[in-house]
Amino acid sequence: MEWLIKPLTHETNGGQLTPREIVAELDKYIVGQEEAKRSVAVALRNRWRRQQIPEELRDEIAPKNIIMIGPTGVGKTEIARRLAKLAQSPFLKIEATKFTEVGYVGRDVESMVRDLMELAVSMVKAEERDKVKAKAQEAVEERLLDLLLPTREGAAEGEGDATREKLRDMLRAGKMEERFVDLEVAQRATPVVEIFSSAGLEELDFNFKEMLGNLLPGRTKQRRVKVAEAREILYQEESQRLIDMDRVLEEARRKVEQNGIIFLDEIDKIAGRDHSRGPDVSREGVQRDLLPIVEGTTVTTKYGMVRTDHVLFIASGAFHMSKPSDLIPEMQGRFPIRVELQSLGAAEFERILTEPENALIKQYRALMATEGITLNFTPDAVQEIAALATSVNERTENIGARRLATIMEKLLEEISFQAPDMKEQEIAINSNYVRERLANLIEDEDLSRYIL
Ligand SMILES: Nc1ncnc2c1ncn2[C@@H]1O[C@H](COP(=O)(O)OP(=O)(O)OP(=O)(O)O)[C@@H](O)[C@H]1O
Ligand SMILES: [Mg+2]
Repeated sequence: MEWLIKPLTHETNGGQLTPREIVAELDKYIVGQEEAKRSVAVALRNRWRRQQIPEELRDEIAPKNIIMIGPTGVGKTEIARRLAKLAQSPFLKIEATKFTEVGYVGRDVESMVRDLMELAVSMVKAEERDKVKAKAQEAVEERLLDLLLPTREGAAEGEGDATREKLRDMLRAGKMEERFVDLEVAQRATPVVEIFSSAGLEELDFNFKEMLGNLLPGRTKQRRVKVAEAREILYQEESQRLIDMDRVLEEARRKVEQNGIIFLDEIDKIAGRDHSRGPDVSREGVQRDLLPIVEGTTVTTKYGMVRTDHVLFIASGAFHMSKPSDLIPEMQGRFPIRVELQSLGAAEFERILTEPENALIKQYRALMATEGITLNFTPDAVQEIAALATSVNERTENIGARRLATIMEKLLEEISFQAPDMKEQEIAINSNYVRERLANLIEDEDLSRYIL
């Protein structure tokens, strides 16, 4: 079968990763949870597949939204986080609990689409900036030369050119950085907006800020700055000038509408059809508000209308107190793919401690290395830590891999404290050391409840 899959890789897919490649990338950070990795990989790949299809049919294909179900601390959010980095698409992660029904204090659900659009705009802008970088730098150089060398009246033609070139060489050699130049800088009249400050600014954000910006004429001010600083300011101006904002917005909207991904964390917390949570906000109400966005609607953003029909939603939750079937039926229908993540045991913990690129042991080794200390963990120490984490999880509360963080911190507390006073040296952490440092805590259930 391998040959069948081959033709679909890099060259033909415009740099998009295949599911296999996506899983391989996720494997670098997340231990186990194969099923969840495969599902998100396929969902991501389907976005690309859809785009290869003729338009009439393409619009018919709805995204296959996913619910990731699993106990706390087993990698749900981590998978989403890593996926975000891989998918070169606008990706927003937000807790479902942040939303309230329209009219209540809290965020209205449409704000997630606005945020996503905002993200996409900066993404595309950054891409465009990269593209015009060389051009902008050229323009900046010319403008700096203009500033450094105001055209002198009566200077002979060739003479000015020669000086300019000499100056250019000096500028490039970094010999002019400390020189001062006078620069016209745009002065933003912001104080008016400041007054409204944090609360409610989001709604204002809409177009009020821009409106204000347009009302108040762009004032400029003379500033005397060093060449180094002037270069930065001019670069911002020039790259802004070279970017076609209309195109940026169009591309950003396309990215959101065709490739956008919204990760809805803690979805279980809004499941349940009881009509109230506390006196006011109803969970069902939040679901009802969410529904149109998940089903596809048009949201007005400050950059124009954005359709959500093809945005991919990945929801996640522990579903301890509620089940996916507690979601309102329409919502269930919109999340056809369910994947369960497995709870983690000692074997996984051992791997999590050592294998991922950001593994805890690697982190602590790097931290201690800054103090000139080489921290080595023997295999039996790793085993012991994993076993202890499992046992504490079983006896107190199962918080999954998060337990490793608390145990490691406690284990290395003494060394962390002493490190700066120690001579440079190697320290080997073996299972005896682990037991010694942690034994009394582990035995005492109450103590471990508080400390680990
Ligand atoms: N399978 C795993 N492989 C590697 N690290 C993991 C794994 N599961 C969890 N971790 C680590 O544990 C921490 C918590 O994981 P994560 O945030 O993904 O939990 P979660 O499943 O989203 O839990 P919750 O339901 O409480 O939100 C993360 O820092 C992550 O690095
Ligand atoms: Mg989480």
